[in-house]
Amino acid sequence: MTDRYAVVGNPVAHSRSPDIHAMFAEQTGQDLTYERLLAPLDGFEATLRAFAAAGGRGCNITVPFKFDAFALATTRTERAQLGGAVNTLRFDQGGWTGDNTDGAGLVNDIQRNAGRPLAGLQVLLVGAGGAAAGVLGSLIAAGPAGIAVVNRTFDKAQALVASHAHLGVPLAAGTLVDAPAAQDIIVNATSTSLAGAASPVDARVLKPGSLALDMMYGPKAQGFLDWATAHGAEPRDGLGMLIEQAAEAFFFWRGVRPDTAPVLKALRASL
Ligand code: ATR
Repeated sequence: MTDRYAVVGNPVAHSRSPDIHAMFAEQTGQDLTYERLLAPLDGFEATLRAFAAAGGRGCNITVPFKFDAFALATTRTERAQLGGAVNTLRFDQGGWTGDNTDGAGLVNDIQRNAGRPLAGLQVLLVGAGGAAAGVLGSLIAAGPAGIAVVNRTFDKAQALVASHAHLGVPLAAGTLVDAPAAQDIIVNATSTSLAGAASPVDARVLKPGSLALDMMYGPKAQGFLDWATAHGAEPRDGLGMLIEQAAEAFFFWRGVRPDTAPVLKALRASL
């Protein structure tokens, strides 16, 4: 029987995940379907239960339900536990296992696709909301020299750093104006690109050859990418991260690793 998967969110119509997973399934010969499920804002759990009862084997979770998914999971992977959010659920016999593949997706994109091994580098993570929390643990695990987390609201940066302080990489918290200069890797995990803003931090955070990545992709990310280019940095949008996090989820469900390179190429061409 064909196994069913879905991406659950609100809104969800814009999600590219069905295209990505269809390409993964075709490439690996896995017999599955992947659909979009719009959950009412007050009906996330009911939507999941109905999908699982109808033969769903797992799902990806997008805004605004990643915290609800965390709460509903009966077991969680260590990286999901650390970030406090779940973007992938697997419906197992005994319960629902929650994972978070966003951080591994970001790290794989930076290291494999952009060719920047993080070991020994200085990383600036801009933002301290759900998106930033979901990736900090994986950035730390890649072994950079240090990570500064800066945010408009200082308290949130400080809390995020405090919850990861035991992991053995030097971490600093600050406000946007405290952002340290000349960083190797800058990750924009704020939602400022949604409003078309260029960058929430000053260009002194960059140096020639810095990699400046916005987790968004498409026209929304353009302001940030143009800002990075104008200041001599290498711009990178969130499309690679999106595909890499999907590949991690695919592996979590199916135990098979798809080749992401042709999928990135195809999706880039269709944007
Ligand atoms: P997400 O799940 O996308 O991370 P979120 O949890 O609401 O969404 O977090 C949004 C992030 O973007 C936060 O870091 C937020 O800063 P605050 O914690 O100070 O709210 C940041 N952000 C949103 N609008 C911003 C703006 N205009 N300037 C700077 N940072 C902004």
